Amino acid sequence: MAVGIFDSGLGGLTVHEAITRALPDLPLVYFGDSANAPYGVRDPDDIYALTCKGVARLWQEGCDLVILACNTASAAALRRMQEAGLPEGKRVLGVFVPLIEAVTERQWGDNSPPREVAVKHVALFATPATVSSRAFQRELAFRAVGVDVEAQPCGGLVDAIEQGDLILAEALVRSHVEALQRRMPRPEAAVLGCTHYPLLEEIFQDELGPHVRVFSQASLVAVSLTDYLERHPGMRGSGAGDIYLTTGDAARVSRQATRFMRRKIAFVAA
Ligand code: DGL
Repeated sequence: MAVGIFDSGLGGLTVHEAITRALPDLPLVYFGDSANAPYGVRDPDDIYALTCKGVARLWQEGCDLVILACNTASAAALRRMQEAGLPEGKRVLGVFVPLIEAVTERQWGDNSPPREVAVKHVALFATPATVSSRAFQRELAFRAVGVDVEAQPCGGLVDAIEQGDLILAEALVRSHVEALQRRMPRPEAAVLGCTHYPLLEEIFQDELGPHVRVFSQASLVAVSLTDYLERHPGMRGSGAGDIYLTTGDAARVSRQATRFMRRKIAFVAA
């Protein structure tokens, strides 16, 4: 048994890395659906069906708890999966709430009414599907008042990262930041609302300027998982971990993953 990490492709590795740093003894099984990435241009039904399939594969691997390390899946599929009912003893958690709790200065599970927070102008960078779900704005409105969110759908970016085309990825980041700044010239905070984007965090920060605080999810998710496992020790698996499954070409995905994460990562066919 181990904790499962699901993503449409390589982006969830940023979350995997942060979890490993926070909880080095926790066995993890990674599932990247690279054959079907990017999810961000798919419709919600499609994202739901693919997410259910990937999560079921992680359950098959013995994971009781699965982290959807994918905002697009968290936005389009998580609530629907929970409403449809999960198998006995299984849990799925998304990556959205820890990020929003950080932006709105809340502790885990603080469900008090929405209140004013320090940041007033937030730039959200996410996939087209996450932006059009408006899940970020909805979750934010439960916790904060008076926050202006300007969202930029970053078309093409996940594809460029999955293809390993860093020159294109950098050019896309710069043009998406410029497009957002035309509508919101001086955001105080920027949210990287896609787990692929921390791979380009330095470029986002460079283009936004040093006065903008960039929130990126990986470490926030690791902190909230640590907290969750302290409260639910039964969900902490023991046994086989350190497995990386892909629906894509394992050799190619391993090469891209190794390049991005700057350590050897060997994927096997899911
Ligand atoms: N890493 C996924 C996310 O956080 C990328 C989605 C995609 O495949 O477009 O949204």
